[in-house]
Amino acid sequence: MTILFDEQQQFFHLSNSTMSYIIGIEKEKYITHLYFGQRLESYHKVNQLPYIDRGFATNPINEERNFSLNALPLETSTQGSLDFRISNYQFRNNTGGRVTNFIYDHYEILDEKPTLSGLPSVRGENEQTQTLEIYLVDHQQQLEMVLRYTIYETLDILTRSVEYRNHGTQAIYLENAGSMMLDFPRSDYDFITLYGAHTNEANIARQPLHPGIQKIESVRGTSSPQHQPFLALADSQATEDSGVVYGFHLIYSGNFVAQAEVEQYGSTRVQLGINPETFEWKLEASTAFQSPEAVLNFSNRGFNQLSQNFHTLYQTHLVPTQWSQTERPILLNSWEGNYFDFTQETIIQQATLAKELGIELFVLDDGWFGERNDDTTSLGDWSVDKNKLPDGIDHLATTIQEMGLQFGLWFEPEMISEKSDLYKKHPEWSLQVSGYPQTQGRQQLVLDLSRRDVQDYLIQVFDTYLSSGKITYIKWDMNRHLTEVGSFGLAHDQQKEVSHRYVLGLYRILATVTTRYPQVLFENCSSGGGRFDPGMMAYMPQTWTSDNSDAICRSKIQYGYSLLYPPVMLGAHISEVPNHQIGRETPLETRFLIAMSGNFGYELSLERQTKEDLAAIKEQIAFYKTHRKLIQFGSFYRLKPFDEQASTAWLFVNDTDALLIYSHGLARPAQTVEYLKTTYLDEEALYKETQTGNIYSGSELNHAGLLIPRIKGDFKGFSLHFTKLS
Ligand code: DGJ
Repeated sequence: MTILFDEQQQFFHLSNSTMSYIIGIEKEKYITHLYFGQRLESYHKVNQLPYIDRGFATNPINEERNFSLNALPLETSTQGSLDFRISNYQFRNNTGGRVTNFIYDHYEILDEKPTLSGLPSVRGENEQTQTLEIYLVDHQQQLEMVLRYTIYETLDILTRSVEYRNHGTQAIYLENAGSMMLDFPRSDYDFITLYGAHTNEANIARQPLHPGIQKIESVRGTSSPQHQPFLALADSQATEDSGVVYGFHLIYSGNFVAQAEVEQYGSTRVQLGINPETFEWKLEASTAFQSPEAVLNFSNRGFNQLSQNFHTLYQTHLVPTQWSQTERPILLNSWEGNYFDFTQETIIQQATLAKELGIELFVLDDGWFGERNDDTTSLGDWSVDKNKLPDGIDHLATTIQEMGLQFGLWFEPEMISEKSDLYKKHPEWSLQVSGYPQTQGRQQLVLDLSRRDVQDYLIQVFDTYLSSGKITYIKWDMNRHLTEVGSFGLAHDQQKEVSHRYVLGLYRILATVTTRYPQVLFENCSSGGGRFDPGMMAYMPQTWTSDNSDAICRSKIQYGYSLLYPPVMLGAHISEVPNHQIGRETPLETRFLIAMSGNFGYELSLERQTKEDLAAIKEQIAFYKTHRKLIQFGSFYRLKPFDEQASTAWLFVNDTDALLIYSHGLARPAQTVEYLKTTYLDEEALYKETQTGNIYSGSELNHAGLLIPRIKGDFKGFSLHFTKLS
């Protein structure tokens, strides 16, 4: 891995063993994008950028009519002059002036990856990294922009962010503070995003780029289930195992934008950052603003390789270090089995049964506090409901621990119910705009996390519950989006900062609590995957993937999320049938196949299960424990695209084992004989299939494929486990 600066030819070449990224300096002033892709052994800048005298071009040097920034591939936009494409930043000064003129000043190379102040980012630890800092200066207003690039030695990953600095004597307003931007010379790519809704997250959208802007965004205050803060550009022929794919992912949990613009001459600009529609920042004199970090991922071996790059990066460099390789417990969550209807006795009965079956963690979900018998009340009043739990949480946790189970608890910390003591005491603590009613969602309001007193209050709530050490798991829920986004704690000209300050406040609470209680496993949740993004994963190493627990819907949702996140990050539970969200009945075995393909647990009433099902559950738990390491920390590959009839196949592989999961979806007549190619097994090795004892070579399974047995009936599936023999 090197970052080389060619003084004579004026370019930077960032490279590792597989990837190169090249940035040029034109006319000693302007930063251009020259190349991103497969490693180049060396670069000679022989292909000069074409200078063409184009119609309507504007020229920074009057006499040079063929030199226009609007026609060159850039690494950052200009503002108010020269470049008319999507902008990565925007300043406004106190005279209303909205023009800047940033030009190249100098660079620095660091042998490390700096952290980002107040924001989550991927770490450089245990890996060689180098960081290039390019300093651009606007001399008129004494502004500075630092473009930061970090390259990893062994990962096909580059990270980028921008620091905006005001060295002047007066405040200036940042109206847009993008994280990254670059121009590809071509536009014959497919534009790929993950879109969805509550209970229908992570659908893959794939369409050819077309002239104009293709954009996804959130203005909901969270990254949202509607769109993942991610886009990819892929060769139109790219498949799971072949073709070039570029992935861009923003490490941020609030309003974002991710967009691509195909411009007049057929090049494509990619830009990601905080959504400027709901953002502004008063940048006081002598202060700086740090943008969130963007991850740039390069694969020349299709989508599975892109996923491998993301999975490794997030599992080893993003989630809290102590959880990176720590096996996760099999849990029983009380929600779908009980909802709000439980008592101390019923919880203890369930935990007893859970223990007998081999479950390792009991999670008490919503309904344990205030007067919370339905979802209309008590958020904010985090003291136990003595009617349900007369001896309190500490006692319950101790009892459950003494049974040999861990104990976990649900919170929705960012919310406040109008019907709560906290709201009576602190109405000013909720987000609001003077003179307008506060819109409720799920009959709740949102706490103003931009306020330090609110942040401190929430930190203290967690201190109360976590300091005894009896609670080892927290489910951190968040069930509505932000409206009337105003704060009584900020000046009038800073009200547009509230959305971002909310996210910064959230990160401060999470950083404080997760550092103070490193042994506690935090699970992220926002009605399932409503705020499933790399920003949250920096604090909480797993997410409740979706409120939809139907196995067939889940196989599609988990398939979509697997593009970015490894299975250990995807909370997946077996629930009852008919499924509570969509009413479908699927066999217990299929529910197991899909749930065990993630971070496994149960969310049902064990008492309502038949004897036969309880026996099967006991076997499932034993099976998962045997293969947990492989599933949670092996490599995960999708073996075929998810199809309309809901059949899918995926593979877990490590050095010693492989586990194939095949889910058949709807039964079909006149079935084609299917040989499923495993593609990713060790070509040189022999594999023994556990149930039959059949021996296969890795290359045989990879290329000739495995004969898929005929399956009758809807929504059936099977798993096959292989041991590597040599
Ligand atoms: C939404 C979550 O996604 C569910 O799992 C459950 O925790 C409920 N909230 C509780 O209100």
